[in-house]
Amino acid sequence: MHRLAWPLLFAACGAHPWGYQKPDNHGTEAKLQVDNCTECHGAELTGGTSEVSCDSCHDAGWREDCTFCHGGDLDDEGAPPRYIDGSFASEGQSFEAHSEHVMASETHEAVPCQSCHDMPQDVLSIGHIFAGDTTPAAAEVVFTESLSPDADWNRTNGTCANLYCHSSGGETPGQALHTDRTDSCELCHAGPDSVLARVRDLGGQHREHESHDVGCFECHGPTVADNGRIINAAGHVNGTVDVQMPDDEITFDGSTCQGTCHDERHRNREWLESR
Ligand code: HEC
Ligand code: HEC
Ligand code: HEC
Ligand code: HEC
Ligand code: HEC
Ligand code: HEC
Repeated sequence: MHRLAWPLLFAACGAHPWGYQKPDNHGTEAKLQVDNCTECHGAELTGGTSEVSCDSCHDAGWREDCTFCHGGDLDDEGAPPRYIDGSFASEGQSFEAHSEHVMASETHEAVPCQSCHDMPQDVLSIGHIFAGDTTPAAAEVVFTESLSPDADWNRTNGTCANLYCHSSGGETPGQALHTDRTDSCELCHAGPDSVLARVRDLGGQHREHESHDVGCFECHGPTVADNGRIINAAGHVNGTVDVQMPDDEITFDGSTCQGTCHDERHRNREWLESR
């Protein structure tokens, strides 16, 4: 057969199944990268050998429209729900706790997209969907711009390891499973209701004070109220441990305490001193 007959044959029989104009068909296949669209529609998606430009039907600006293909329910940045497979339910998705992170809560501020992703500028950004994407149908996760720059996301197990964000802020890094759904402080560190043995995991003189019933709020006033609830999400899981006593009489300079508290005189008491 003559070489030039091939494109003609394609045109005659159609390169795609009948009804491919429907977004449910070609839209979903594009997003799940069932086929490599740029192969025939060109590296810029302007036609290539198929001579059909994606822009011929799509409204101008679709390439930079972040809620054209995913998201739009929660925010305008493109975060699920409305996953790339078209579903809205988080259950069964690779990262069920996505919205949990993207939305502010009583205990934390909204985590910016940049903390976990290199943000694309449009559909041709390298690594996004049509160019240089080495993980078809799965989002890339990059933590370099976050509080946990050394973290690892394991898609198969659904776990994040080597996390600052899910630790106590001390030396031992935390880890989390994507289906972990608990309001408990113990997801990351001992809290107001934890047993003494667990409070010991917090550094320094925590256990000593807890055994004398000194509440978290008495030293972490900016963060926690006397009922044990977080009162300032902006100061929690932000990379800084806030220590402030309600009484100016007692001070902490980063390593030692001065002043009298609960009738106990503190003078150059080392927080990390072993007893
Ligand atoms: C093997 C080459 C090839 C690949 C790969 C390819 N296309 Fe096409 N496509 C064509 C050709 C040729 C046409 C022109 C009409 C025809 O022959 O069906 C076309 C037409 C279309 C049309 C117009 C509707 C229609 O059926 O005519 C849409 C929509 C489309 N392609 C979407 C896509 C998407 C999305 C991808 C990637 C998931 C893709 N194509 C991958 C060759 C290809
Ligand atoms: C024949 C017209 C036509 C062509 C050609 C076409 N599309 Fe579409 N596509 C549509 C329509 C209509 C929609 C529905 C959304 C809208 O109205 O803009 C859509 C939706 C989509 C969606 C979003 C689906 C969703 O809801 O999440 C993707 C992704 C998509 N198209 C990819 C492509 C790509 C890639 C090409 C080029 C390879 C292409 N389309 C070419 C008509 C077309
Ligand atoms: C044509 C459809 C489409 C459009 C438009 C689109 N995305 Fe995506 N996006 C995808 C798909 C598909 C994935 C996931 C799959 C992958 O990486 O293979 C994805 C993944 C992402 C991810 C996860 C990281 C990654 O690259 O995998 C972010 C963040 C993202 N998109 C943001 C955006 C932003 C911001 C915009 C607007 C500038 C945008 N998207 C526009 C289809 C699109
Ligand atoms: C705490 C980290 C984190 C934050 C913050 C975050 N993401 Fe994600 N995102 C992930 C993980 C993990 C996945 C799942 C990756 C996988 O499937 O392997 C994901 C997946 C996605 C996907 C693909 C969803 C799908 O259908 O598979 C998109 C799109 C996306 N994120 C966009 C965003 C946008 C937009 C923001 C900001 C509004 C954002 N993400 C914030 C961690 C995050
Ligand atoms: C007697 C004062 C005091 C009490 C009570 C107290 N803390 Fe602390 N906390 C500190 C000091 C001092 C530090 C060390 C700050 C530094 O290193 O700059 C600290 C550090 C921390 C850290 C960072 C990790 C670490 O171990 O250094 C966490 C998390 C924490 N406290 C949580 C709590 C919780 C939860 C409670 C209640 C169960 C509590 N604290 C009770 C004084 C106290
Ligand atoms: C997702 C993990 C996570 C959860 C859940 C969590 N924390 Fe924290 N918390 C941290 C990290 C990380 C730090 C280290 C300091 C920082 O970055 O703010 C911290 C620090 C603290 C501190 C020290 C003061 C400060 O502002 O840094 C207090 C007090 C505290 N948390 C109380 C609580 C209480 C009470 C709860 C439960 C209602 C709780 N935390 C739940 C991760 C968590």
